[in-house]
Amino acid sequence: MTLSTPSTKLIYPTIAKAANNWHGLIETYRPYLPVSEATPVVTLLEGNTPLIPAQAIAAKIGRGVKVYVKYDGLNPTGSFKDRGMTMAISKAKEDGAKAVICASTGNTSAAAAAYARRAGMKAFVIIPDGYVALGKLAQALLYGAEVIAIDGNFDDALTIVRQLSENYPVTLVNSVNPYRLQGQKTAAFEVVDVLGDAPDWLCIPVGNAGNITAYWMGFCEYHTSGKSSRLPKMMGFQAAGSAPLILGERVANPDTLATAIRIGNPANWQKAIAVKEASAGEFNAVTDEEILAAYRLLAAEEGVFCEPASAASVAGLLKVKDRVPENATVVCVLTGNGLKDPDCAVEHSFNELKQGVPKDLQQIAKVMGF
Ligand code: F0G
Repeated sequence: MTLSTPSTKLIYPTIAKAANNWHGLIETYRPYLPVSEATPVVTLLEGNTPLIPAQAIAAKIGRGVKVYVKYDGLNPTGSFKDRGMTMAISKAKEDGAKAVICASTGNTSAAAAAYARRAGMKAFVIIPDGYVALGKLAQALLYGAEVIAIDGNFDDALTIVRQLSENYPVTLVNSVNPYRLQGQKTAAFEVVDVLGDAPDWLCIPVGNAGNITAYWMGFCEYHTSGKSSRLPKMMGFQAAGSAPLILGERVANPDTLATAIRIGNPANWQKAIAVKEASAGEFNAVTDEEILAAYRLLAAEEGVFCEPASAASVAGLLKVKDRVPENATVVCVLTGNGLKDPDCAVEHSFNELKQGVPKDLQQIAKVMGF
């Protein structure tokens, strides 16, 4: 008698359920999202990222303040963009789109490429030449996107993709696409689901200002539906060389080593201002040195490797730490994985590689300090 092979239709859900009872953020938060039975859900089981207690950071603040980091770098393509992209690509697929396009400092392009290709669509990404971290570029290429590097910055690229999407059959999946923010708001739901309430402060890096807008939307919706008793103060941080929201004017030539947030004219500018006002929040700038200090602190003392732009949330919190209320709960959003930008890690680590050591036990032990 020959054994029959079990149908994959049966075995896959069974294994998935046993291994991980998470079905992606659209299934989890379906009642809060603009999807219907007709929406083909394109998912890589994104979301459900850890909210990690950060005691070394809390210790620098003292006064009973509790700090957590929302490690969204653990999403399938390594950044929070996956939250927005599962929605944007599912809706584009529902609408019959055959191709999508985005401008990107890197992470959006990686996420757009992965989800679009998974959905059987073409992905075009336009990036500022020379200012996209290696890991992100590698992802977009390997996922199979058409990657076009322009002699211009992110703001130039965004202007061009807006025009292209108006004139050609390509759907725009930057955060001006409303489905992006719908998906990204689920990060706020997850924070409240874990803490049991909203935090007092939410510290977040700001570039194009989509994510701060999405988080606020999520906190407000959960508050309205009785899932939380309060709303957080939204604390947005920009890199000092790319800080239009703090300066109150466009920055023509934005500059920062945190290339993910190297943006001089945020598309969601007005929405971000509205969030700041509604939440009695603040926007502040952090220097590249402050970003790097937080980046190293997160890695070497918390064991959390994020990309430089993400560390802006922690750098910002430490900068304004004297204003954190006593016993407050603070969540810092870590938007992207450190592996995205290996060059930055190698260049800016205080630690050095001990090279040229012979394969000799005594000598190795000596190098080890024994
Ligand atoms: N952190 C990271 C790691 C990012 O990649 C971005 C934006 C932000 C923060 C800022 O988020 O734009 O919603 O305020 N990256 C975009 C991109 C611009 O193309 O990947 P935002």
